[in-house]
Amino acid sequence: MSGTKPKELSWEEKRMLDMIIDSVEDTKHQKLLLLQLIQKEYNSLRDEHMRYLAKSIGTSYSDIYGIATFYAQFNLSPPGRHTISVCMGTGCHVKGSKRILEKIQGNLGIKVNGTTKDGRFSLKSVRCLGCCGLAPVIMIDDETFGRVRSSQIDSILEKFE
Ligand code: FES
Repeated sequence: MSGTKPKELSWEEKRMLDMIIDSVEDTKHQKLLLLQLIQKEYNSLRDEHMRYLAKSIGTSYSDIYGIATFYAQFNLSPPGRHTISVCMGTGCHVKGSKRILEKIQGNLGIKVNGTTKDGRFSLKSVRCLGCCGLAPVIMIDDETFGRVRSSQIDSILEKFE
C-alpha cells in the first residue's frame, strides 16, 4: 500500500468523482465498475481518488485498493508512453516467460503494473496473446516480439524512446 500522504483533491476532481459515483446504482456492489469509470476519466487510479471513493461509498480504502491491485486492467500510476505486455499464459510460461519478466523488471526497476519514473514504460503481465507458437511472447504497444530471449531485452527496449 502507498505510504505517501494522499494529495488533496481539487473541487473539480471531487465534483467529477461525485458525478461518477452518482451515475451508478448500488455502489457497494459495483466497486469494479466504479474503478473502471474513474480510470477511464483519469487514465489511472490515483491513491487520493481511491480514498475518496472508499469514503463516499462507505467502505475501506484497503477494500478498494485490494480490488484495484487484483485486476490487471487497472493502472495505479499514469501509463507510460509505451506499454510492455509480457505474456504469462501457459504456452509462454513453459518457454520461460518468468525469466523474461524478471529481466524487464530488473532493467526498468519496476514491478508489474508499474511505470518507470521517466514515464517511458508501463509494465503489464497478461494472459495468452494468441500467438503461442511464438512463445515466449511480449508486446510493446501494438508490436509483437516472439521467441524472446532475456539477452535480447536490452536491444528491444532501446527501440522505444
Ligand atoms: S500463452 Fe503466450 S501467446 Fe499464448
